[in-house]
Amino acid sequence: MASYQRPERKIFEKLPFEVVDPKDEFPKVNIYGKDFVFVGPKKYFQSAAYKELGLGIYNFEARPDDVYLVGHGRSGTTLHGEMIWLIGNDLNYEEAAKNFIMYRFPHIDLFTFHSRERIKEISESKDATEEMVDISSKYLEMTSEGLAERKGRRFIKSHLPLSLMPPHMFEVGAKVIYCARNPKDMLVSLFHAFDFFLVKNLTDSFKDCFDDFNNDLTLNCPYFEHVKEAWERRNDKNFLFLFYEDTMKDKRQTIRKIADFLGKDLSENEIDKLEDYLSFEKFKNNKTVNHVHMTKIGMAEDVSKFIRRGKPGGWRELIDEEMEREFNRVMEEKLKGTDLKFPET
Ligand code: A3P
Repeated sequence: MASYQRPERKIFEKLPFEVVDPKDEFPKVNIYGKDFVFVGPKKYFQSAAYKELGLGIYNFEARPDDVYLVGHGRSGTTLHGEMIWLIGNDLNYEEAAKNFIMYRFPHIDLFTFHSRERIKEISESKDATEEMVDISSKYLEMTSEGLAERKGRRFIKSHLPLSLMPPHMFEVGAKVIYCARNPKDMLVSLFHAFDFFLVKNLTDSFKDCFDDFNNDLTLNCPYFEHVKEAWERRNDKNFLFLFYEDTMKDKRQTIRKIADFLGKDLSENEIDKLEDYLSFEKFKNNKTVNHVHMTKIGMAEDVSKFIRRGKPGGWRELIDEEMEREFNRVMEEKLKGTDLKFPET
């Protein structure tokens, strides 16, 4: 019997969708100035760096044993990333303690949202300490070229929507996990993350952030399209769709789901230990996951703003009744024609 031959990987000369400069639509929280673009038919908001990086990401050569974690920022991707990494690496806590999560589970899209030039400057600065050079050099490896050189099983993370991810990851049957979160909680969490990443001085007003979100003028928005793309694949082989809220209700169940998905057997004792390790309090003080490495190179301040509240329902802090009505109206319109429903919080 003839053995199955995988079709050759298609290499794109250029992106199979448009990348368009803005004309008259500008966000109120102006992180990238005028340096941003709208990508593809859904007009995903990306920094202008995407123009240089998008094709390399799209053409990335996946391997069948890769594991991808995709999700909009502030959807609990760090928590799920650590869970996936540990399960996928046979609960190797020792190895997890050696390096920060962003290095073990690198972002393929890192420089679409952080400035590569700034990190390069840090790595080359004569004032940089050895630790700063080490951290920034590790960041600089997080490109599609850098990840292509990684040996062993790769764990790759991204905040990009699936349609901007390498199609090859689906073709080779790599495992893809998507993590979604109630959009109101995600948005409030994102507002606080601006503070962490030192860009809050651009606005003190949550309403600005709220308006940008509703107008799809926030990084990786339209959010509902981002989630819908994954929702449509939720029953596919090699695809796992998770909600942050389900994990917060029952971490053990998510741990089991991921273990099943990755073909790993975990004993009850192992699940106990992992659940405890992932608890909000432990996580907050865990230097390999609380993003303290970013503060060390001056890219962020005060780690308590990253692993911040850690439970559903945070939207009630900042979304008043009028905003809630507006939010619900927009959400209803954008979810028309799909059975996707977000968990209430
Ligand atoms: P809040 O700001 O609502 O607290 P991401 O990692 O995708 O950026 O998501 C960040 C969100 O996940 C933050 O939400 C953060 O506090 C929450 N989070 C991180 N680790 C957690 C944990 N161990 N348990 C519960 N929530 C956690």
